[in-house]
Amino acid sequence: MGDEGQPNATLKEISEPVRIELDALESHFKDYLRTDVPVIDSIFQHLLDGGGKRFRPLLVLLVASCNNSIPPEDINRLAVAVEFIHTATLLHDDVVDQSDVRRGNRVAHHIWGAEPSVLAGDYLYSRAFSILVEIGHLGILQSMSTATTSMARGEVLQLLRSYSVATTIEEYIEVITGKTASLISGSCRAAGYLANFDDIVLKALEQYGLNLGLSFQIVDDILDYTAQKGVFGKTTGKDFLEGKVTLPVIILQEVLGSGSRREVADIFLKEAPDPDDFEKVREMMNQEGVFERTREIARQYSDKASAELAVFPKSDSRTSLEAMVKYVVYRKA
Ligand code: IPE
Ligand code: IPE
Ligand code: MG
Ligand code: MG
Repeated sequence: MGDEGQPNATLKEISEPVRIELDALESHFKDYLRTDVPVIDSIFQHLLDGGGKRFRPLLVLLVASCNNSIPPEDINRLAVAVEFIHTATLLHDDVVDQSDVRRGNRVAHHIWGAEPSVLAGDYLYSRAFSILVEIGHLGILQSMSTATTSMARGEVLQLLRSYSVATTIEEYIEVITGKTASLISGSCRAAGYLANFDDIVLKALEQYGLNLGLSFQIVDDILDYTAQKGVFGKTTGKDFLEGKVTLPVIILQEVLGSGSRREVADIFLKEAPDPDDFEKVREMMNQEGVFERTREIARQYSDKASAELAVFPKSDSRTSLEAMVKYVVYRKA
């Protein structure tokens, strides 16, 4: 695709300072689910079996590891809760987006149906907040409830803006701030509360997570066009077929002359676009250097995230948080 990225630390390398705690989370997820309804367990287990990067709990562990007087149960509670919230949104999102593949496996709603999948998502959401209550910190509850409210808002805005080919960069950023960056930001801030950081560091962590989350989602939107089959764990071309006007589409329209721009808009607004239409748009993006331009914008958000870490105490965890900003820009999955 002419947009191959550069070698950077892998997520495994980034996780090194908290490797033991991160691995231990896999059994904590099951312990904290606490349900006697088998279908909820099965759906959750199916998602867990698919893997997933554990990106948000990893951030929690890295931030919290800067203070070794935090009760380990509270770190586990927060890490588990953020992954439960994330998993709930995936269950809901796959129904809304009518997706077929998640984490390399069939989506839950194709196996159990939409109703159990949505309701299991509701359970995970609710359970996440009951775990957060057990931590007993109002700031953490506030960070996480602000994040989930913002996520729901972002998802609704995105739905309303489907097929709006004139969507601006600002409108796109508003959507991804809500649907993706807010949870990453809230997770970092909440972990900062656990670590007892002052307001300056809390604000920096919030901004770090926000900018990292924006970069993360922008690259996800590139990967929806460019990812290698079998690596991404999701089907490519979904955004295009759903009429989602993501950053690559906005940039393509910006760089094209008015004639070709009209052509792209017409393809996008077709009643039933097919894989050939997708290939055509992807090839135009490739020709016009859209993926490089889009990745450059992701890199700028990552740079902003990186700058926020200046107030964070120097440690192996901070080195990992710094490496994370590059990882998100060049990730392939
Ligand atoms: C998927 O998130 C949803 C987005 C915000 C793009 P992840 O890419 O973190 O998904 P998993 O947990 O690794 O499957
Ligand atoms: C990601 O939504 C954000 C949430 C799941 C709330 P997308 O619809 O863009 O993500 P994928 O591509 O399905 O993972
Ligand atoms: Mg989706
Ligand atoms: Mg979606």
